[in-house]
Amino acid sequence: MGNGVLIFGATSRIAEFVARRFAEEGKALTLVARSREKLDVLEGDLTARGASAVSTFQVDLGDVSQVEKFLNEQQNFEDDIETVVIAHGFLPDQEAIQNNWDEVASAYEVNLLTPLLIATRVATWFEKQGRGTLAVITSVAGDRGRKSNYVYGAAKGGLSLYLQGIRNRFGKTPIRIIDIRPGFVDTPMTAHLKKGPLFASAESVGDGIVRAIHSGKDIVYLPWFWRFILMIIKLIPEQIFKRLSL
Ligand SMILES: NC(=O)c1ccc[n+]([C@@H]2O[C@H](COP(=O)([O-])OP(=O)(O)OC[C@H]3O[C@@H](n4cnc5c(N)ncnc54)[C@H](OP(=O)(O)O)[C@@H]3O)[C@@H](O)[C@H]2O)c1
Repeated sequence: MGNGVLIFGATSRIAEFVARRFAEEGKALTLVARSREKLDVLEGDLTARGASAVSTFQVDLGDVSQVEKFLNEQQNFEDDIETVVIAHGFLPDQEAIQNNWDEVASAYEVNLLTPLLIATRVATWFEKQGRGTLAVITSVAGDRGRKSNYVYGAAKGGLSLYLQGIRNRFGKTPIRIIDIRPGFVDTPMTAHLKKGPLFASAESVGDGIVRAIHSGKDIVYLPWFWRFILMIIKLIPEQIFKRLSL
């Protein structure tokens, strides 16, 4: 197994900072995202920052069949990749889509189905190699269902449970499965939201993800204080919680 880093959704603002840190460590990077234009810009930037190699693949990560085709074509990845990051995701407008099944289904394709497909395939690579690290960006939104974002939250929560299962499957091996749960992060995904003191920068979250990968943690809240906020939110009895507007 090589020491390469494979990033799905590499054009995400958070992933960009993850890729920068790995470039500075001289890693070989493989970037997958839907925008050829953005991939080309990233390739130049990461090469200049010290990556030993940068390969890019244009794949629509909101389309299961395209992702499956890509994974089938890249059988040799498993020999070169030590770390896989899954970063793509999309925050839909809850009220606008909650009564529209087609919109809900497409939100699940990008937020849940393609990450599950990738995680499933990566698990078989790592099982064969006996090692490897998979880090997936889920969200604090997956910790408890709320009326303001349950389409997104259920996808992220389902993804967290799936990762927990894979982690348990490999619990006695050196294979690491890391669930990254950010709170609010200032990125294009949240550009429409009013910013407040709970918002973190994409750079600090990207750095936190690289630290989590190096330390091999299981579940990481970013910034750290979200662990305590969610601990309290999860303690609220459902009878009370269902009446709240959080
Ligand atoms: N920002 C937050 O507050 C926050 C909080 C918790 C978790 N997260 C998670 O963090 C991860 C990174 O997001 P970010 O905040 O860095 O946002 P971002 O900069 O908007 O990045 C989103 C990424 O997902 C891709 N993407 C979005 N919709 C897609 C679709 N329908 N089909 C294919 N690809 C699609 C984007 O591709 P393009 O570049 O081509 O648009 C981009 O690579 C996501 O999984 C997100 O759910 C974010």
